[in-house]
Amino acid sequence: MEHESTMTTSRTHLSPLARPEWRHVDKIALEDFQPEDWQLLEQQRRVYLAEHQAAQALRLLTASKDDPSFGYMVNNYRHCLQSATMVLSDGRDEEDVVVALLHDVGFTTCPLLHGDFAAALMGAYISDRNYWMLQHHATFQNVHSPHLPGVKQHERDLWKGHSHYDWTAEFVAKYDQAAADPDYPCEPIETFVPMVRRIFARKPVDRRTTTLETQAMKDTR
Ligand SMILES: [Fe+2]
Ligand SMILES: [Fe+2]
Repeated sequence: MEHESTMTTSRTHLSPLARPEWRHVDKIALEDFQPEDWQLLEQQRRVYLAEHQAAQALRLLTASKDDPSFGYMVNNYRHCLQSATMVLSDGRDEEDVVVALLHDVGFTTCPLLHGDFAAALMGAYISDRNYWMLQHHATFQNVHSPHLPGVKQHERDLWKGHSHYDWTAEFVAKYDQAAADPDYPCEPIETFVPMVRRIFARKPVDRRTTTLETQAMKDTR
């Protein structure tokens, strides 16, 4: 327990608070938190998220600005910028633009589930239509990759007739599968910052129940 006592006495990594008038909960184990501690955290959390959540979500993307590509002519950051610029140029609404901007934010950090990652990131603030699109866009992309070894090119047919099928197919066809052009004149990230802020400022929807219900349905199948 040497490590623990060092941490508690020196406080070497005590985090500053976002606002000078805020207080730390001066306890380590959650077991020791009292109702007034939770109340304090909740009060400060609400303000913190309102002021920082959108910026932190954006930083997930901007942190990759200068990352190398593994073969595409543009990196993932540029792909996201192009996708968002294309959606914006088509006059689509702000939510669609922000969803395009962040649709692949997890592309290289959780490749196989990157659609779910983006859906989880934005899910509380976006429509069912975009939530579903994010979750399924990688599968829908397969139809545009006929020469990808092992591809299940028509896997999206499983969802034929689904109410969000057409939007997902359209998003992938117009704004995703061909959004890797090194000569495309992308808008700068600054164009999208206020849009991201406004989407994350929406009243959040709690999607956890839906997720658990979906899981339960899968488990009982
Ligand atoms: Fe993707
Ligand atoms: Fe993409």
